[in-house]
Amino acid sequence: MWSGIGTAVWLLAAARLGLAQGPNQPTYSNTSSSGDNLVTSPPFYPSPWGSGSGDWAEAYAKARDFVSQLTLLEKVNITTGVGWLEEACVGAVGSVPRLGFRSLCMQDSPVGIRFADYVSAFPGGVNIAATFDRGAMYARGYAMGTEHRKKGVDVQLGPVAGPLGRAPEGGRNWEGFSPDPVLTGIGIANTIQGIQDAGVIACAKHFIVNEQEHFRQVGEAKGYGFNITEALSSNVDDVTMHELYLWPFADAVRAGVGAVMCSYNQINNSYGCSNSYTMNYLLKSELDFQGFIMSDWQAHKSGVGDALAGLDMSMPGDVLFDTGTSFWGSNLTLAVVNGTIPEWRLDDMVTRIIAAWYKVGRDKTQVPVNFNSWSKDTYGYLHPAVGYGYGVINEHVDVREGHGSLIRYLGSKSTVLLKNVNGTLPLTGKEKLTAVFGDDAGDNPYGPNGCGDHGCDNGTLAMGWGSGTADYPYLISPLTAIQNEVASNYGSIQSVTDNYAYTQIQALAKQASVALVFVNADSGEGYINIDGNEGDRKNLTLWQGGDDLIQNVTAWCNNTIVVLHTVGPVLIESFVDNPNVTAILWAGLPGQESGNSIADVLYGRFNPGAKLPFTLGRNREDYGTDLMYEPNNGVDAPQQDFTEGVFIDYRAFDKAGIDPIFEFGFGLSYTTFNYSDLTVTKANAGGYTPASGQSAAAPVLGNYSTNLSDYLFPSDIDRVPLYIYPYVNSTNASASYGWNDYGNQGTSYIPPGAQDGSPQPIVPAGGAPGGNPGLYDVLYSVEATITNTGTVAGEEVPQLYVSLGGPNDPKVVLRGFERLSIQPGQSTTFHADLLRRDLSNWDSASQNWVITNYTKTVYVGSSSRKLPLSQTL
Ligand SMILES: *[C@@H]1O[C@H](CO)[C@@H](O)[C@H](O)[C@H]1NC(C)=O
Ligand SMILES: *[C@@H]1O[C@H](CO)[C@@H](O)[C@H](O)[C@H]1NC(C)=O
Ligand SMILES: *[C@@H]1O[C@H](CO)[C@@H](O)[C@H](O)[C@H]1NC(C)=O
Ligand SMILES: *[C@@H]1O[C@H](CO)[C@@H](O)[C@H](O)[C@H]1NC(C)=O
Ligand SMILES: *[C@@H]1O[C@H](CO)[C@@H](O)[C@H](O)[C@H]1NC(C)=O
Ligand SMILES: *[C@@H]1O[C@H](CO)[C@@H](O)[C@H](O)[C@H]1NC(C)=O
Ligand SMILES: *[C@@H]1O[C@H](CO)[C@@H](O)[C@H](O)[C@H]1NC(C)=O
Ligand SMILES: *[C@@H]1O[C@H](CO)[C@@H](O)[C@H](O)[C@H]1NC(C)=O
Ligand SMILES: *[C@@H]1O[C@H](CO)[C@@H](O)[C@H](O)[C@H]1NC(C)=O
Ligand SMILES: *[C@@H]1O[C@H](CO)[C@@H](O)[C@H](O)[C@H]1NC(C)=O
Repeated sequence: MWSGIGTAVWLLAAARLGLAQGPNQPTYSNTSSSGDNLVTSPPFYPSPWGSGSGDWAEAYAKARDFVSQLTLLEKVNITTGVGWLEEACVGAVGSVPRLGFRSLCMQDSPVGIRFADYVSAFPGGVNIAATFDRGAMYARGYAMGTEHRKKGVDVQLGPVAGPLGRAPEGGRNWEGFSPDPVLTGIGIANTIQGIQDAGVIACAKHFIVNEQEHFRQVGEAKGYGFNITEALSSNVDDVTMHELYLWPFADAVRAGVGAVMCSYNQINNSYGCSNSYTMNYLLKSELDFQGFIMSDWQAHKSGVGDALAGLDMSMPGDVLFDTGTSFWGSNLTLAVVNGTIPEWRLDDMVTRIIAAWYKVGRDKTQVPVNFNSWSKDTYGYLHPAVGYGYGVINEHVDVREGHGSLIRYLGSKSTVLLKNVNGTLPLTGKEKLTAVFGDDAGDNPYGPNGCGDHGCDNGTLAMGWGSGTADYPYLISPLTAIQNEVASNYGSIQSVTDNYAYTQIQALAKQASVALVFVNADSGEGYINIDGNEGDRKNLTLWQGGDDLIQNVTAWCNNTIVVLHTVGPVLIESFVDNPNVTAILWAGLPGQESGNSIADVLYGRFNPGAKLPFTLGRNREDYGTDLMYEPNNGVDAPQQDFTEGVFIDYRAFDKAGIDPIFEFGFGLSYTTFNYSDLTVTKANAGGYTPASGQSAAAPVLGNYSTNLSDYLFPSDIDRVPLYIYPYVNSTNASASYGWNDYGNQGTSYIPPGAQDGSPQPIVPAGGAPGGNPGLYDVLYSVEATITNTGTVAGEEVPQLYVSLGGPNDPKVVLRGFERLSIQPGQSTTFHADLLRRDLSNWDSASQNWVITNYTKTVYVGSSSRKLPLSQTL
């Protein structure tokens, strides 16, 4: 129960997790699902109802007024998708024709609009993290939101903080930001603000600890020959959950995100969209999330169980794609009519959805959907799944508004300069012979969108693969841009883009005054397998023979520049110290302007200032975490134990005392910077007050008939085949139900307290969106002087790290940063605030944040390992 999560329940859960040994050293056992010894997720009921807290009050007032006017069928319609490929968008719920409320349109992706023409392809989240620039994060979000708005989209399915990036091999890490929770938190918050200021609801996903593609879905795993019956369980302890994986979602909620998507995986052996602890407790109680939770596509697992556990919207609505059956729709109508799901819970689902809609101004900004995900044709089926209804499906509206120049800028802004011997870069454009090498420099022979969902690695890599993609309106390859550069000076440029044409490669390398070698490493979503990479990468090496290519060029050219288009960390040991490699750049996944962005950096129009949003280690083992590639629990749910706790990426390297090649936060410039004059000023914050008191009782908005004959299909309805409706087939309940589904817990199990709509206690770490407002009090202000000691203007990202001082704490953790533009010879003041949360640890026993007595130290510097300034607090 809601009130039951106090210490007693938590201690029970903690005992199961083995937390008695200390929060960061859980013990796990992987016994079969016959019941014994699997870690479990504690129950938490009832599902907290939205209150309109924080800055949601106005949206809630409007939403409650609207929901009060709805019938039961209309409410159910708004919660349930109409089925896969039944409407124009990748997800659509039912409409309320009586009030002129049209079906809501949910559309991928985090890098732009998937499945549409005349849209922009933005840089990946990992690049935006590399900018370490809040303005860049916001600008991209605002531009993407604007495009979604103009195509008629209500909910953009992004941004991403799950995966966070526990292991570098994770296939979808690039869709998110960084394995550092603070960088990801700032990234996701600014992106959300941008998207929602543009008038579109953002959807933070995938909630939570969705850290690998392998075994995320049973069907997908079976397709790869793995005989499992349940999806993977990410087993994570309470401290790690709060200090690492939940952290950026707190920022998302605090930024006012309208939607959150629950994930495919299990968390401590309870599915993401059935998990009352993660949805009811963490998200809706502790973080006081006021928006709605939608399921990932086919992650909805049960009718009653998931509703009581906190799910608010079923996507895409059908049990499995195009079965014509749904856990909700008719089933939800019946469950409310027969009293199994309390009316307040349905009202809360709808209120949350409509409140998000008002909060971002959809009542003022909505335009009709004018594209179709399933066809680029002008005319086609309105309900493509079943070839039903025919008409105009795509108006080909160009929504790009010149975003190409922003994308070009973001591409340069996110390019990290890793090595630059003796001012190799910038180039002058007057090199005698410029030689360009690599499949990754050129065009995809199949065309920029020639592989479905970008499921191939041909030509230059500017985004990964899967649902988190968008079609390119064009893709400027590096070769095109460099050719334009050199040709504008009437210089000489030759290229070889076949990575295996060693004879030609060597012959050209031998002649070159400068060789530019482009290499890549790709990854994506689990439903596409490229060269044995089932979404996740199977290794951290370069693709397409990249190491051999570099080797062949450097053997003959002593001025070789390597450009990495990679989804994340790759192994660069084979060439990083080669004296003939005179410069290395990480360009990530820059989007449609890739070539122009890198040319601006190479030729000095843009002085690089980005920083690595992850660590580049010497080998795979050094990361200390890896994915699970073979099930470890027979046919039962694979058990992925996060035994490393909070020690991922740089925290793992620091803990193990392993030197990386390039550390988190590292990046060079064409100029140099000096750090001096650290000052730490204590702010005048009061004490920390645990939230307390009780919620109001659950609002009930309207009433409904309990006579099933009021819910029958209307006789005059033009019924679309396989479409999900809120109506029932028969007044005979048992015939109508066709379900006995309460999750995995038996047919008649209603969790204790789940139907209780009476006032509930507010948890100590809660009380406002994002958690207890006191967590965001400024405790200290930190300043330092940054001086440009070189000869050209440049940008530097001073970074603020903290040591929390405890025996289980990382050596340092990032807590702040700012990207500063500084003229040569000039100094600028770096300023960052330390909030209470920044200095706190999660305390499982009190279920709250506490500042421990361990000595806290503040560091400022240019990377996680170059920290010249420090002071204890
Ligand atoms: C439910 O939504 C469908 C699809 O938009 C619509 O045809 C139907 O009329 C709606 N039902 C009600 C009761 O509003
Ligand atoms: C897969 O697992 C199921 C359930 O244990 C079992 O019945 C079936 O024989 C297994 N199939 C294969 C191919 O191993
Ligand atoms: C109700 O849900 C069950 C699964 O629990 C499903 O099998 C059944 O078809 C659903 N009924 C309708 C009308 O969709
Ligand atoms: C409500 O629906 C459930 C699911 O079909 C069923 O098990 C239960 O008996 C129904 N309860 C009432 C009071 O009709
Ligand atoms: C860099 O330039 C300096 C001075 O011109 C020279 O002594 C040094 O050898 C050069 N280093 C490399 C790696 O080329
Ligand atoms: C496309 O890329 C794959 C590897 O992903 C490679 O095997 C194949 O040769 C490439 N084809 C072309 C035409 O470039
Ligand atoms: C790593 O995977 C890539 C992509 O599948 C492949 O090209 C490469 O050969 C692999 N590396 C090794 C060392 O096997
Ligand atoms: C070029 O790469 C091939 C393939 O690995 C290798 O056999 C050959 O030795 C390389 N040549 C040079 C000069 O490095
Ligand atoms: C570097 O390039 C020169 C040619 O300029 C070549 O003679 C030498 O062997 C190369 N060195 C390495 C380590 O590849
Ligand atoms: C690279 O080789 C060229 C001759 O091919 C030589 O002029 C130049 O000094 C070499 N540069 C370095 C840094 O060794």
